[in-house]
Amino acid sequence: MRNDPWDYADLYERWSSNYREDLSFYGAAAERAAKRHGGPILELCCGTGRLLPALLAAGGEVVGLDISAHQLRLAAGKAELGGAIRDGRLHLLQSDMAGFQLTRRFALIVVAFNSLCYLLDDVTRARCLHAISDHLLPGGELVLDVDNPITNHAGPEGAFALDDLLVDYPEPGDSTRIYIGHERHNEDPRIENIHYRFVVTTEHGELIREVHHNMRCRAPAEVVEEIESAGLSVQRLSGTFSGKRFDPLESPLIVIVARKKS
Ligand SMILES: C[S@@+](CC[C@H](N)C(=O)[O-])C[C@H]1O[C@@H](n2cnc3c(N)ncnc32)[C@H](O)[C@@H]1O
Repeated sequence: MRNDPWDYADLYERWSSNYREDLSFYGAAAERAAKRHGGPILELCCGTGRLLPALLAAGGEVVGLDISAHQLRLAAGKAELGGAIRDGRLHLLQSDMAGFQLTRRFALIVVAFNSLCYLLDDVTRARCLHAISDHLLPGGELVLDVDNPITNHAGPEGAFALDDLLVDYPEPGDSTRIYIGHERHNEDPRIENIHYRFVVTTEHGELIREVHHNMRCRAPAEVVEEIESAGLSVQRLSGTFSGKRFDPLESPLIVIVARKKS
């Protein structure tokens, strides 16, 4: 895909691979889907496949969908996913999550790691949620997490400072430094521009890669409303993966389990 803003998959992989706090939560959702329907599972925005092993562990078939050929190529090359691809248990598919069309229905659809927020406008987001609803089996679940906009990214409007060094990433031993900055969009302050700077130390010196993404996070009530408007019923809204009650002023995340009405 030309102008793929996600073509820094190798750096993204270094950054995200030691983010593990959601693995058991999504793994448990996959177990529920396997028990209820025997699978299958669809992960929208699967990226480099960080979550796919946890979804495959439940034993069913998994489809990973992503818009970025670069991210999918990295997923397809992972040794830990090779067996499932060869056995026909894992299918990787390049598509836009807004308005995707597949021929099968799923017991579980996952949209992890704030990925729904890459859809900026209401119409595109509604189209995606309707496509999700259309692709769920009756009683099937949509499970997702997005940032709580009240506690996250609350940088000063318009200001841009690339001064925030992510200390937890990447893997210990990797010398990549990752800086992150946030800037509110001037025309629409609900849209945030996230700016990453990856500084990789190589034998030839420092390699610097800058990446920008626009995101739009919504308040919890808006997230619930848009999900329910697509014909799903929100069963659980928590503030953490461990199920802590959502507190608008404290919770880092909005974690949602919704079900397709039978
Ligand atoms: C934050 S990453 C999450 C990757 C993976 N789910 C994880 O948890 O590590 C977001 C992913 O969303 C994908 N993406 C962004 N916009 C998309 C769209 N409109 N349709 C499908 N994928 C999209 C990007 O290519 C990227 O791989």
